[in-house]
Amino acid sequence: MSMPFIGIKQVNTTLTPLPRYVIDPTMKVLYTALEIAEKVNELADKISSEYQGHELFIVGILKGGFMFMSDLVRRINLPMRIDFARLSSYGNADRPLGEVTIVDDIHEAVAGKHVLIVDDIMDTGHSLLAFKNHLMEKGPVSVKICTMIDKSERREASISPDYYGFHITDGFVVGYGLDYAENYRSLPQLYLLDPEDRRDIS
Ligand code: IMP
Ligand code: MG
Repeated sequence: MSMPFIGIKQVNTTLTPLPRYVIDPTMKVLYTALEIAEKVNELADKISSEYQGHELFIVGILKGGFMFMSDLVRRINLPMRIDFARLSSYGNADRPLGEVTIVDDIHEAVAGKHVLIVDDIMDTGHSLLAFKNHLMEKGPVSVKICTMIDKSERREASISPDYYGFHITDGFVVGYGLDYAENYRSLPQLYLLDPEDRRDIS
């Protein structure tokens, strides 16, 4: 008996069983768990070789970056320290507010360190530009940015990620840490949310 296609391409069900409540059939799988894992390995190899001989200071951006960061750090073959920061979010809309607030800053000193900021997605770029500038004032040797997704066509700030996994032109992405109105963060794959579906979620 064949199963109806409900927008799920492939998933490694041993490592990351797909939640049963999944999912609105209009949500399209953008990248599978396998494609994400391969990309994370590729990024981790690149970062490991470019920072060879140095200790990294990884700053994960909450909440969106949590899943990507936890996968990435396990694959990076370098000594590292880890901290988190929480930046202001869109609220429950998909438009940037234009002002970036650091809700919770890092707690460790970064003077003399190589800092790598890890986040889910760079969109307009305002959040990460503001946060990068803020970290630069703490005297690190370097500050670079790694995002899972680069949505470069929507960029407004003059910044781009030093490392990114996937490039997309437009569309609203959820899953693998990314949310719409705090939904979908736990999904192990990346999905495109149909704009029509964004209206009624609260
Ligand atoms: P930026 O300051 O416009 O680059 O905003 C970055 C933040 O907006 C990300 O860290 C996400 O929290 C959120 N964001 C931007 N695009 C998306 C998307 O497609 N899905 C989910 N969150 C997004
Ligand atoms: Mg975010």
